[in-house]
Amino acid sequence: MNSTTRAFIDFEGVTLEDVETLFSVAHRFEKHLQLPLVPHTLGLIFLEPSTRTRCSFEVAGLKLGLRVFNLESAESSVMKGESLEDTLLNLDAMGPSLLVVRHGTKELLREIAPRLKSKIISGGEGITGHPTQALLDVLTIYRARKGFKKERVLIIGDVIHSRVAHSHFDLLHLIGFEIAVCGPREWLGIEKDSRIKHFSRLEEGLQWATIAMSLRIQKERHDKNASSSFEELVSSFQLNAKSLRHLSEDGFIMHPGPVNRDVEMTREAMEDSRCLILKQVNNGVILRGALMASMLGIKI
Ligand code: CP
Repeated sequence: MNSTTRAFIDFEGVTLEDVETLFSVAHRFEKHLQLPLVPHTLGLIFLEPSTRTRCSFEVAGLKLGLRVFNLESAESSVMKGESLEDTLLNLDAMGPSLLVVRHGTKELLREIAPRLKSKIISGGEGITGHPTQALLDVLTIYRARKGFKKERVLIIGDVIHSRVAHSHFDLLHLIGFEIAVCGPREWLGIEKDSRIKHFSRLEEGLQWATIAMSLRIQKERHDKNASSSFEELVSSFQLNAKSLRHLSEDGFIMHPGPVNRDVEMTREAMEDSRCLILKQVNNGVILRGALMASMLGIKI
């Protein structure tokens, strides 16, 4: 990820060295208060809801001295039937330096990116991926452990519908972490990947793991018959005071947000001293700032 990078959509071509360089820029960005205005415009195009991703790109963009504009689906011509492709081509014609795009269609950005003059970053794409979330999660682990150590990451819940999980499968393998999943059977769908372990019981998974990463239930991507899996998640795969007794004292609890309280995890789990959720959010600003600075050639 540097000033020659035109699109950051997934981890194709990304090396461990790239990730460590980006983390160094993020550490510098944290100490840095506000750059003077720079001649770059950042467009945040969010056609699905977002709190953390959109606002953290905006906060980071303002700290970098970028001019920022926002487009959300409710106020866009997508509501009048314009395709995402046409929306992006039209925004691109206005000359922004960088677009961050969230949308719900699988693998669309890779097709559109080469046709844009603006640089582009995925802000979360269908179930394809959410690469900046995976990066900020790994940055959070890196900072909490003071470097890369051997980790065993247990990803819990609605794995198959989660773009965060799909990006983690790529990034965690690149870093060299072990990965396992557990959750209701119909939400796993990883049988074909021999690199990913499976635990049918949460307690066993938590005894194995150094990181317990719960995921949001992606109701918007379910068919109508998912209610039994929902109940199974709450009864058998919830992170709560009882289940978390099986996670080691120096283990960490993570969730990309938004959390459905008392569904994926309880208040006790969120307030557990091992929980990194708000650190993940904090690191989201510096990671996204570092990525944008690197792609736009802004020195920090
Ligand atoms: N984790 C995440 O993508 O959160 P938002 O949907 O609030 O951006």
